[in-house]
Amino acid sequence: MQKNPVSDYVIIKAEQDGVQVIGLTRGTDTRFHHSEKLDEGEVMIAQFTEHTSAIKVRGKARIFSAYGEVEAGK
Ligand code: TRP
Repeated sequence: MQKNPVSDYVIIKAEQDGVQVIGLTRGTDTRFHHSEKLDEGEVMIAQFTEHTSAIKVRGKARIFSAYGEVEAGK
């Protein structure tokens, strides 16, 4: 179990092959720290954490969170 999750889960569902989910670091230095590739139909369930302050999604995907649903790549 992640020690310090700072938010609810965010769900990313890829709608094409090669969707990238990129985690950006928390703190004064904002940089990519992790990139995950999803193929069509694959789902990633993630949280914002003490290490991750932002998530960038590149490609066609549906993103579900407490704020609702948004489409990326359109
Ligand atoms: N080691 C990362 C962390 O604990 C793993 C991670 C959590 C992550 N949420 C993410 C990576 C979102 C990419 C996108 O912060």
